Formats: sequence, C-alpha cells, structure tokens
Amino acid sequence: MTDDLERRFDDLWSSLRTIGLSAESGGYRRFAWTAVDDQLRRWFREQALSRDLSYKVDRNGNQWAWLGVPGEGGIVTGSHLDSVPDGGAYDGPLGIVSAFLAVDELRARDRPVTRPVAIVNFADEEGARFGVACVGSRLLTGVLAPHAARALTDGQGVTLEEAMTSAGVDIASLGRDDPLLGHIGAFVELHIEQGRALDDVDAPVGVATGIWPHGRWLFAFTGEANHAGTTRLADRRDPMLPFALTVLSARSRSAMAGALATFGRVRVVPNATNGIASRVDGWLDLRASDEGTLATLVQAITDDAVSAAATNGVTATVTCESSTPAVVFDEELAARVQAALGGVPALSTGAGHDAGILSAHVPAAMLFVRNRSGVSHSPAEQADPADLVAGVRALAAVLAELACQ
Ligand code: GLV
Ligand code: MN
Ligand code: MN
Repeated sequence: MTDDLERRFDDLWSSLRTIGLSAESGGYRRFAWTAVDDQLRRWFREQALSRDLSYKVDRNGNQWAWLGVPGEGGIVTGSHLDSVPDGGAYDGPLGIVSAFLAVDELRARDRPVTRPVAIVNFADEEGARFGVACVGSRLLTGVLAPHAARALTDGQGVTLEEAMTSAGVDIASLGRDDPLLGHIGAFVELHIEQGRALDDVDAPVGVATGIWPHGRWLFAFTGEANHAGTTRLADRRDPMLPFALTVLSARSRSAMAGALATFGRVRVVPNATNGIASRVDGWLDLRASDEGTLATLVQAITDDAVSAAATNGVTATVTCESSTPAVVFDEELAARVQAALGGVPALSTGAGHDAGILSAHVPAAMLFVRNRSGVSHSPAEQADPADLVAGVRALAAVLAELACQ
C-alpha cells in the first residue's frame, strides 16, 4: 500500500473540481448528455487510458475501464459523474475517483489479480435532466424499455434520443445487455453517505444493507389563467390551491407513516406574479420503508389531490414517472465485504443508486464514506481527507478480497 494516497487523491480530485461548478451557487450542474457531461466523460476516458485500462462505451452509453479481459466473474466498481441541480462534489464522483485509486492500489499489491476488474461510469444517474433516475443502469438491466427512454424529454423539449445521438451514442443499440451483465460477477459502489449515521457512531466507512422503495410522480393541476387584480375569488379556478393542499397532505401523511415525501420541483404556467396560473405541475418524490406503505401513501395523496382539485374547479392528473422496488443487498457479498473490512457499521438508506438497480440482476454491495455535514444533494456535502483515503483503502481491500484468489 502506498503512503502518499492522500496527495494522489487530492490530485485526481482536483482534476475534476471545476467541471460543471457554478460560480453563482457553488454547486455542481452536471447534467446528462450536455457539454459539461462530455468533459466529464472525456476525463473518465483519459483516466482509463492513462492507466492502460481498456476503455469501452457499452450499448447504453455507460463508460467502462477494464483491467484484464472482460469476462465472466468480473469485479466491477464505480458510480456516476452527473449531479442534481446545484449538487455537492461527492455524490457520484467520489465512487469513480475512489475506484481509479483503488485499482491503482490493487495493482501495487503483491497478490496477482485473478479476475477481470472494471470501473464504470453509469450515465444519467440523477435523472436531473430527463426526470428518470439511473437511466444507464436501468437500460443495461432492461428495467427501462429503450422506446420509453428515447421518448424522455427535458425542460427544453429535447428528447433523450436527440441528446444521446448528438453525444455520439448509437440510439438503435439501447437495451438490456445480457453479455455485459454476464461479465459482472459482483458490483461494489462506493458513495458518500447521505446522512449522519456514520458520524453518529464515529466510523469513516460503512456497508449498505438495503434501499427503501421509492418513486417519482407528476401531479398536474389544470385550472384557468386570469387577472390577479380583477377576478373574484368565487370565480377563480386556481390550480395553485389544490397543489398547496397536496403538498401539505403529502407531508402530514408521510410523517404519520414514517415515510419521506418531497415536492422539490414545480412548474407554474404562465408563472406571472399578477396572474392566476393556468397550470401547476409538481413532482412528488416519495420513499418508504416498505412497498405496501409506499403504495398506500401514493393512493392517499392522489385521492387528496383529486378531491382538492374538484373543490377548486380544477382537474388533477397523477402520472408515475419512475418507481424502484425495495432493495436488499446480497447477504453473502455483504459478509465478504464486512470480512475484508474487519467489521464496519451496516446501514440502510433512502437514497437510490445504480447498485440498487443492478442488485436485482447481479450480486451488489455498497460502501458509504462518512459525510461530516450529513447534507446531500447540496454543496454543503462534506468529507474529511482522512475519510476519503479510508474509503479508497476500504474499496481496495474489498477488490482484493473479491478479485485476487
Ligand atoms: C439519487 O440520489 C436519489 O436518491 O434520488
Ligand atoms: Mn444523488
Ligand atoms: Mn449518487
């Protein structure tokens, strides 16, 4: 094990630091298939080639860097480089930077690497631009149908098909990729923790047990545009009112069920201060500890929305844009990871990940690195240099356990 890991971490991290950084917010705006994403993807390719790893883009636009010849039983690590709007630095990129450094550590060890090892950058994990999260891993596993993916549209009306085509991906090749899935013997994703559990127990690294089921629903309320200063209250068909009531219903119902409901994105048409809106679209992100609770909550919030809309002369429609079942990570793999790390805290999470999508198809595991602020999807995400290095060492130990036999 080399002892200048902290410096090498810092060097590699610095090479990504300014890409997609907003001077205005201090957060990252790294959206799929944009010019910024292209810079990130070039960075990944350069890192792969500079290490003599074989570089490939798969049928669904995910980037791969292989040590050894791709084949059955490969040990894969990695994460994503895209971000939410004004996201933090670590969510995603930490898993890829740590993966390159962990592979460097693995190669520097005495033990021969006996299985193929790969680093992957999954495309469009956050779904910030096209609305559906984990598009790259959902396409690879067949969870998202190619025709549905192609039709996804961003806020400017650009389809995913157009965006991927302009980025040079052959859109005709999208879809479940069994030969590639057959090369993944195990997938281990390292990720910044998105809460404070590790800080609470004073541990730099933890292992995931599972992911709560979750999904995204579009609540669309349609009323009638009119003048704010002349339209009598009795004559209004204001979609903002049922929308507001729905936000409150989601909050109180999820609190009662121990679930998490969030309306974090809204579109108001025409969005004028002195006008009653004609339409309000709000996106519900809902996560619960089990699928039954999630389904019951969605139905109850939908019923509240429809009834509040009717009371206000407005129509409401609810569309599920994506849903992800509960994930329980592979127990045998988790036990091997725990053994390689000498026992670390085990945590479940409400956050979605490519490892969760893959877990239904191949053994998958996740390592979490302590986040000092506990804040995520915000520039306030924070990690200590010593913990970042501990994460790389932990990942290298796991790769050695799985790939050197
Ligand atoms: C991804 O970070 C998600 O949980 O939405
Ligand atoms: Mn995220
Ligand atoms: Mn992430």
